[in-house]
Amino acid sequence: MGEGGVTFSSPKEPWARREGCRLRWPSCADVSMREDMEHVPPKVVVRPEEPDDHDAVYCVSQLAFGRRDEADLVDRLRAAGKAIVSLVAADAGRIVGHILFSPVSVKSSGADCSAVGLAPMAVLPNRQREGIGSFLVRRGLDECRRLGHERVVVLGHPEYYGRFGFLPASRVGIRCEYDAPEGAFMVVELRPGALNGCAGTAVYAPEFGGLE
Ligand SMILES: CC(C)(COP(=O)(O)OP(=O)(O)OC[C@H]1O[C@@H](n2cnc3c(N)ncnc32)[C@H](O)[C@@H]1OP(=O)(O)O)[C@@H](O)C(=O)NCCC(=O)NCCS
Repeated sequence: MGEGGVTFSSPKEPWARREGCRLRWPSCADVSMREDMEHVPPKVVVRPEEPDDHDAVYCVSQLAFGRRDEADLVDRLRAAGKAIVSLVAADAGRIVGHILFSPVSVKSSGADCSAVGLAPMAVLPNRQREGIGSFLVRRGLDECRRLGHERVVVLGHPEYYGRFGFLPASRVGIRCEYDAPEGAFMVVELRPGALNGCAGTAVYAPEFGGLE
């Protein structure tokens, strides 16, 4: 992987990678500050995640959420083959953001209908509010549509996700299996009419179990 930035040596074992991330945590922050000081012009590209990105994605997620839970979730979903869409935002080769979509099933007494869930998404703390998250969401939705997916759910802030077309899922009779504040569980259709007749309880992949 390129010099500097959120990059790591690549020990072969996952546990060693994680140990490496923890040990190199301070250098992550140092490098982020150095980027600001250099006033590197932002040339952010969004592209599919590659295997070489995994450690940097872990670190971006850990730094953004301030804990390892979401980073571990990304690893679990990827390992289970449930990362339907996984995109990174890269600036001069350095990973600054990540978004993942995984399968969700909307279960009802009738036929279930399939959806994808947007989560987690992370942007490096010192690169937030530059539009990188929005770029990831838009490109992610485009990619889901391109792959033939028709509905996307998200649990998050209504004001943020509303700008991408998400509406409260309760309006179409979809509720979340997890407790969610009013309006925080949202859905968007990727094909007109795709939400017609799709109602019930949205169930995420079991890899989400235990995440608070
Ligand atoms: C959420 C996140 C990915 C947004 O990335 P970003 O690159 O800052 O997003 P953008 O620059 O496209 O948009 C920033 C806007 O979203 C708003 N925003 C971001 N997170 C928000 C939140 N939790 N609640 C309300 N508004 C939020 C900001 O206030 C800002 O508003 P503005 O455009 O009016 O200034 C980033 O803040 C992050 O990594 N947060 C920590 C992890 C997290 O909460 N992930 C989402 C849940 S999975």
